[in-house]
Amino acid sequence: MSIKSICCIGAGYVGGPTMAVIAKKCPQIKVTVVDINEKRIAAWNDPDVDNIPVYEPGLGEIVADARDKNLFFSTDVDRAIDEAEMIFISVNTPTKTYGEGKGQAADLKWIELCARQIAKVAKGDKIVVEKSTLPVRTASTLKDILTHTGNGLNFQILSNPEFLAEGTAVEDLLDPDRVLIGGEQSPEGEKAIQALVDIYAQWVSRDKILTTNVWSSELSKLTANAYLAQRVSSINALSELCEHTEADINEVARAIGADSRIGPKFLKASVGFGGSCFQKDILNLVYISRSYGLNEVADYWEQVIIMNDHQKRRFAKKIIRTLYNTVSGKKITFLGWAFKKDTNDTRESAAIYVADHLLNEQSSLSVYDPKVTEEQVFTDLDYLDTRSPEENRKALKVIKDPYKACENSHAVAILTEWDEFKDYDWQRIYDSMLKPAHIFDGRNLLDKEALRKIGFQVHAIGTAD
Ligand code: NAD
Ligand code: UGA
Repeated sequence: MSIKSICCIGAGYVGGPTMAVIAKKCPQIKVTVVDINEKRIAAWNDPDVDNIPVYEPGLGEIVADARDKNLFFSTDVDRAIDEAEMIFISVNTPTKTYGEGKGQAADLKWIELCARQIAKVAKGDKIVVEKSTLPVRTASTLKDILTHTGNGLNFQILSNPEFLAEGTAVEDLLDPDRVLIGGEQSPEGEKAIQALVDIYAQWVSRDKILTTNVWSSELSKLTANAYLAQRVSSINALSELCEHTEADINEVARAIGADSRIGPKFLKASVGFGGSCFQKDILNLVYISRSYGLNEVADYWEQVIIMNDHQKRRFAKKIIRTLYNTVSGKKITFLGWAFKKDTNDTRESAAIYVADHLLNEQSSLSVYDPKVTEEQVFTDLDYLDTRSPEENRKALKVIKDPYKACENSHAVAILTEWDEFKDYDWQRIYDSMLKPAHIFDGRNLLDKEALRKIGFQVHAIGTAD
């Protein structure tokens, strides 16, 4: 079976880039990405690709290349479902904020809505692909809804989780470590799996395309994120010990990473991991484990989150302690607000929580990020509901020029590892700050010795001051 028409429901950080790459690599397939968010679709269709809603290096060029040839963005969900032979579901699956499982379970209401809409609209058999990250066994719920509310059609459900990381999405999609496809172990299931394998095989070597049963695929996605996050929490736990013992976390990371069984990646100590997925997926894993009565398993993974929360709080407290135990009325400048470099995404960014802590201590904050808008910074803070929107706007200013942002501040804190920060004229920044001038490097990004020579008091994660 050779697929000619694909629809993707959800034009977000995953749906947009993933489908753009499929469209680029498979010019014979018509790819339509749909979303209920009209503003988002309009932005994807903006003639100036600098205005597409997801910032990712290299994405603009790919969209410009394929858009309106075989890549389309639309709000007409029904039509796209009807026309497609294969439908990817790539909608958001955040942590539940209400009812049973509040604060831990994944909220699957958008997934269920998609299934009901597909069942309602479809006039022919379809392959439905779970691209969103979902709790293990969700495919059986989808199958149930599609079979019982549909028009007696045949639906095959595949799990095809996405492993791209933001900031390197295009690279990751063009050259993935692996593609994972889970499907039903039946002749129809095998046929559906093959149809999706054939799409990826247009640019991914066959030995990197792994096929499994649906449940292994669903669980592997949660597991991969849990393992990655666990590495960050492990190195962050040790960073605190380093600060007390004069061991240097960067040296420790290099020494342990040289062991090929451990490997050098994901050993960067930081102010704490952020992003839309690590926390949500681990909480989901914790919830699922507990719902099977596996309390030790749940407690084990929950510790990764507890450590991460501690790391964010610890960073804020260190700033306060260093500035003579009070930041009231003192100006502190944040360089970076995104949860990592090369993305405009701020979901669960450590910066939000560190800012909240400092604002509670009546600090006055100034924020510069090369890609995050002022509107987004305030949306993030207002969402916490700690202070009124007016109070947030009074205490925090978003400044478009980094040098201006740092002027007259007592301290600069690095919250995101944007490369440009390394190239700043730090002497100029030092001269414009109040003395003693402090730098709190939450990313171990800057050259400590060079900054100390200028006169800065440097406080980095995982090294003694
Ligand atoms: P997102 O919030 O950026 O995008 C989701 C989009 O789905 C939104 O634009 C929303 O309007 C749309 N949507 C919701 N319900 C809809 C409906 N019924 N019909 C049409 N559109 C609808 O989310 P995202 O970051 O793209 O993540 C999507 C999924 O992919 C999540 O399950 C996430 O865990 C997973 N994932 C994300 C990443 C990542 O880096 N962001 C990586 C791998 C996997
Ligand atoms: C992560 C995974 O890396 C992807 O494989 C996965 O597809 C994705 O989640 C998802 O499911 O959403 P992402 O969150 O985009 O990708 O970015 P990462 O590079 O994993 O970084 C996550 C957070 O950990 C960032 O805040 C980053 O700064 C932090 N981090 C990462 C560290 O603090 N230290 C490290 O060594 C690595």
